[in-house]
Order: sequence, then C-alpha cells, then structure tokens
Amino acid sequence: MTDRIHSIRTMKSLGRKLAMLTAYDYPMARLLDEAGVDVILVGDSLGMVVLGYPDTTLVTMEDMIHHTRAAARGVTKAVVVADLPYASYGNPEQAVANARKLIEAGAHAVKLEGGACQIPQVAAITAAGIPLVGHIGMLPQQVREEGGYKIKGKTAEDAQRLVHDAKALEAAGAIAVVMELVKPEVAREITAAIGIPTVGIGSGPDCDGQVLVIHDLIGMFPWFTPKFAKPLATTGLTIRGAAADFAARVRG
Ligand code: KIV
Repeated sequence: MTDRIHSIRTMKSLGRKLAMLTAYDYPMARLLDEAGVDVILVGDSLGMVVLGYPDTTLVTMEDMIHHTRAAARGVTKAVVVADLPYASYGNPEQAVANARKLIEAGAHAVKLEGGACQIPQVAAITAAGIPLVGHIGMLPQQVREEGGYKIKGKTAEDAQRLVHDAKALEAAGAIAVVMELVKPEVAREITAAIGIPTVGIGSGPDCDGQVLVIHDLIGMFPWFTPKFAKPLATTGLTIRGAAADFAARVRG
C-alpha cells in the first residue's frame, strides 16, 4: 500500500477530517493539490459539469481515462481517485480490467457505486491490489431508474440496508465510503459503525470527511447548484464578465 493510501486509511483513527474535491483536468487538479486537499476525485460528474450531458450515464471509460490522465499530471501530494463509469463493472473480470486502466492512467484508487450487490466486483478489485472507495446512498448512475436525486435512509429498513452496505464494503477491503444524500442521522450511525472513513455529500456534518463537485464549490456551473452546496466563489460570473469586457474592448 502506498503512503498516500495509507494516510487515507489512518485519518479516521487519528481523528483527522478528510477533504475531497473533484477535478477533471490539469490546472484544477494542480490548484486543489497545492491547496492541500486530501483526495482529488476524477468523478463521472464530469458528464454533467464538463461534457454537458444530463446525467452521468453517458460517460465512458475513454472519457474517464482521458480526464484521469490530465488530472493526475497536476497532482504530487493528494490521492487521486477515479470513478468507474456506468456499465464498466458488470462482473468481477470487467471491473478489475477497467480499474487497472484507470490506475494506468494515473489514479491511485478507483470508486464504484453500490453496496452489498457490488461485493464480488469490490472484492476482485481489492484482491488485485487496487485500492477502492465505495459509494452508497443516492447512486447517480441509477438516476434514471430512481427518477431523480432522492434522499436515502428515510425508513428504518432503508437505514439498515445502508449500514449493511457500508459494513460489506469495509469487509471487502474498501479504503473509504462516499455517502451521497444519506439522511444525516443515518450517516452518523454508519460513520460510528465502520472503521474506514465515510465521506459525505449532502449527508450532514457527522461524516469523517466531505466531498463536493468543485463546480458547486466555486460557482462554476451557475445554471444549477445542489441545495446542500454553499458556493464560496462566483467563478462562472467572473468568467462571463471577463469575456464580455474582452469582447467590448476588442470591438472598441
Ligand atoms: O462523480 C462525482 O463527482 C461523485 C461525487 C458526487 C461524490 O461521485
């Protein structure tokens, strides 16, 4: 296990919170690395915020490899995690082969969506020596079947299922678990129930770390901001203003 992966695994026992942000290209990854972010996620959210698709389901392995290569070139300290995209991990052999491609592209670890139902794939990837981050709760790759981005863990049964998913991922060797749109009380319960770091997004404050899509943090996608994201900058408006000033100057 590399030092970078080891540091992620040990953060929880040291009581250190984990900061994860997405990046999809060299300059952004380099800026986030220089800022001291622990984990840089080349997320398949690039489908929406970079490629202009309505959701993540059209993102391909080629897209992920291309963007992972670019982002990894900018990182010297952080852990780079790359998402296995939709339909790229249907069985353990396919999951391992595609996880290897992302590692060859420069990722230190891969992430896939799903809990107990993905354990054969997760176990195969970790057995191949590839560090893996799980992702439970709202699974964006299933947004079409789900009919939207809905909060998870609202019923006792669903909460139990999420706890079971998190424990199954830990037992299969995951180094951390992203929890997306999980009810905050359930996220807190899961965080207390497992030994690996939980990283929340829209899941309340009681996780071992937090992750955001960088565009939501810096106001780079002004047409839509999720309710849980509190932008700290208005980069999109700054760019639009600078471009308008430039155009006005050119036109005299
Ligand atoms: O693709 C992504 O950006 C993600 C985050 C929402 C966790 O998976």
